[in-house]
Amino acid sequence: MSRLLIRGGTVVNADRKFVADVYCEDGIIKQVAPNITQPSQCEVVDATGKLVMPGGIDTHTHMQLPFMGTVAVDDFYSGTRAAVAGGTTMIIDFVLGSRGTSLLDAYDQWRGWADPKVVCDYSFHVGVTWWSEQVGKDMKKLVDEKGVNSFKMFLAYKNVFQLDDSELLASFKVCGEIGALAQVHAENGDVIDDQSKRMIELGITGPEGHAMCRPEEVEGEATTRATVLAHQVNCPLYVVHVMSKSAADAVLDARKKGRIVFGEPIAASLGTDGTHYCHHDWSHAAAHVMGPPLRPDKGTPEYLMKLLASGQLDCTGTDNCTFNRNQKAMGRDDFRKIPNGVNGVEDRMSVIWEKGVHAGMMDACRFVAVTSTTAARIFNIYPRKGIIAPGSDADIVVWDPEASRTISANTHHQAVDFNIFEGMTCHGVAVVTISRGKVVWDHGKLNVERGAGRYIPREPYSTIVYDTILRRNTTRQPQKVDRKPYSGPVWTKDGDIMVGDAAPASAESSAADDTPTKDTSSSQTTTPGSSSRRTEAPGGGRASSRVLQPPGGGGSGIFFG
Ligand code: URP
Ligand code: ZN
Ligand code: ZN
Repeated sequence: MSRLLIRGGTVVNADRKFVADVYCEDGIIKQVAPNITQPSQCEVVDATGKLVMPGGIDTHTHMQLPFMGTVAVDDFYSGTRAAVAGGTTMIIDFVLGSRGTSLLDAYDQWRGWADPKVVCDYSFHVGVTWWSEQVGKDMKKLVDEKGVNSFKMFLAYKNVFQLDDSELLASFKVCGEIGALAQVHAENGDVIDDQSKRMIELGITGPEGHAMCRPEEVEGEATTRATVLAHQVNCPLYVVHVMSKSAADAVLDARKKGRIVFGEPIAASLGTDGTHYCHHDWSHAAAHVMGPPLRPDKGTPEYLMKLLASGQLDCTGTDNCTFNRNQKAMGRDDFRKIPNGVNGVEDRMSVIWEKGVHAGMMDACRFVAVTSTTAARIFNIYPRKGIIAPGSDADIVVWDPEASRTISANTHHQAVDFNIFEGMTCHGVAVVTISRGKVVWDHGKLNVERGAGRYIPREPYSTIVYDTILRRNTTRQPQKVDRKPYSGPVWTKDGDIMVGDAAPASAESSAADDTPTKDTSSSQTTTPGSSSRRTEAPGGGRASSRVLQPPGGGGSGIFFG
């Protein structure tokens, strides 16, 4: 039996902080209380003067992603090693199979890459990189059999991953039917395709062209479009890598309208900006190329941080997808060939502490929420992850808020040879990281084992994502208006006018009057296309089936609200 006691620290959860010891056995937290008696054969971590927090959950990584003619250089080993060195104890990576590949085959392939290498726990979102009826069926299988509850759809990467609006609608509908969260890469791929050609015609071949051909509104438009499409089919939406004020505002607008939309800024968008694209050194500029790009508006990181601090954006990832200088150089004559992606998995926690907590914009509890707890709730692994409490996994970071470190590619643990946060001094350092009850990072020393991490399956119908959606499946169905049938003249296509009983009224309909009715019967109402929609909360709590007539009486075929 492995035993570990973390002594004398201040436990910080998303809701409160308090002084307590934390005792773990065989990878599970057993007790959280002051002055726990040390059992025999128990390793002790001294956390005096330190914060004891749930390990970070990075919601967005791409380890060893085959992409744009090469493969991301941080694999599931170096990537997760770097993660724990920065206080992150779980990553959620993306299975992104190429067009035409079965989603199930792609999932198996990614599992085969990750399982032998990961040093901490991980899970998978799956990319819907093309569309067919079979893809929809495979999504259901992934939910039912493989523990996947989130799917990423692309509005960009034309001819590679991009879906058109009808395909987006179809995939969102499937998500709604299987209790999964739809995620979007929100950029208008057609605009990017067109405008990037224009940049090349203008002779703008350098990394600045990457940002110039996809200005903020291109991200904002796609974000708004995704929220509208998702709302039309009552599907919850999660916007990955929110990179601009425009995209954040689109998320906020949708939320103000009551839509179930989550927003994920990343370490890069919170910690740096797009002025680097104009750097005189080509490699420096190219190292920042990612999609959507960092924004030249220097106020963007603070804007996003304020929204994150105030609960208007939700949780944080990194989009860690790293390429070395020589890989980036594939696009030395044409920015369209620069592999897209930046680092972040190691530094996310420190960057958010520095720009959020140290800067006085959020407290330590909110820090825990945005780096761990909210992700656990959205992706339905709470309270297994995301909290220091008895019964939870012993994924823990001991954090020194007084210590500082300066980020550099020379000292980081990632495989990539560049760091977009180079030279940034961060107050707030992970001094000890514990994964599954084992100390894997201790004051600058790694003690990790390839394959020690586990795949974490995730159930569908997360409460925070689905309870409101399920209720709306019942309460916000459009209703037909009961009225007397029309009995006047009808123009026919031959030009004749039929008068009188062309369309005799049925006994039932002739009994109806002109007043729109409120149907309060207990039978469930369905509309075409919604027959398989779930209307009960998982766990047996039956959602109300009272059907409300929308104001004005007319059903328009859309969800109201
Ligand atoms: O530039 C990026 N973001 N690379 C990774 C793929 C993606 O779109 O997330
Ligand atoms: Zn993306
Ligand atoms: Zn990504």
